[in-house]
Amino acid sequence: MNAPTLHFYDLHPPLADIKEEVLKGLSCQPKAIPPKFFYDEYGSQLFDQITELPEYYPTRAEIGIIKEDGEEMVSLLGNECLLVELGSGSSQKIRLLLDALQPAAYMPIDISKEHLLKSAQVLATDYPDLEIHATCADYSEHFHLPYSPDDKPKAAFFPGSSIGNFDPPQAQALLQRVAEFLGQDSTLLIGVDIKKEPQRLNAAYNDAAGVTAAFNLNLLTRINRELEADFDLSRFEHNAFYNEPQGRVEMHLVSNTPHEVQVGGQTFEFAEGESIHTENSYKYTVTQFQNLANKAGFQPEQVWMDSADLFSVHCLRVR
Ligand code: AVI
Repeated sequence: MNAPTLHFYDLHPPLADIKEEVLKGLSCQPKAIPPKFFYDEYGSQLFDQITELPEYYPTRAEIGIIKEDGEEMVSLLGNECLLVELGSGSSQKIRLLLDALQPAAYMPIDISKEHLLKSAQVLATDYPDLEIHATCADYSEHFHLPYSPDDKPKAAFFPGSSIGNFDPPQAQALLQRVAEFLGQDSTLLIGVDIKKEPQRLNAAYNDAAGVTAAFNLNLLTRINRELEADFDLSRFEHNAFYNEPQGRVEMHLVSNTPHEVQVGGQTFEFAEGESIHTENSYKYTVTQFQNLANKAGFQPEQVWMDSADLFSVHCLRVR
């Protein structure tokens, strides 16, 4: 009988850590909550819906690039590696690579436990020969790879421009940690959204169907459920806009009335118009991103873009 091909490692941060981070963020001026907390089970489902919206171009553009140039990408990643995916979500894009790549093992890493498990189970059924090491973890913090065989080279896939959800210094620090766990000469394939005209960016984060607004507001539903809070969702509105000088789309939840909210035994006051900053989504030119990667210890090897120059996929090698 074959050994089980699906392994699961639970490194999810404890509730006490989530509470501490949320309380700290709400005590800051301006108030802020990190975007990683969007991804409870329902938040992950809403994000999957976002990726299919007509206004949200990044996912379609990235998939188009991988379909077009996947063979070259696969040749740079190399067979028989441990392939680590950061922010694997529904593990859709990796399928495009797995059809041409034979990794020794695949390690999807995601903070959303239920979503990760479901996706890994479906993948294990569809790819019965693939050894999967599904890891629930907050990769934005220091963490170790729970499975790291010395005899296998490592490669990483970090799609979706999730790197854009970190401020540039944090993004550099995260890439440095990725370079460390990958080791010298390893490859990182990373999707990065490109700077473009504000109208398209504003539309992508303010879809007509209101899914992005629901995704943003679901953060408060999650905090109410998990952290004994009493946010009244009717008192907050979704606000997203491109901040051109900073090169980032910002998402906020704006209080439409002065009021108080209880969270985990603490009281927070909101003025009318006061916001909770919930996400930044940085956009880069190719050169800006290559410079950042370079400072993090990577040598840029190749970059692919779609025909409309909306999105980029970089191949970087650890120096
Ligand atoms: C996951 N991340 C790259 C998405 C983004 O575009 O920043 C999250 C998102 N927020 C609103 N829409 C999508």
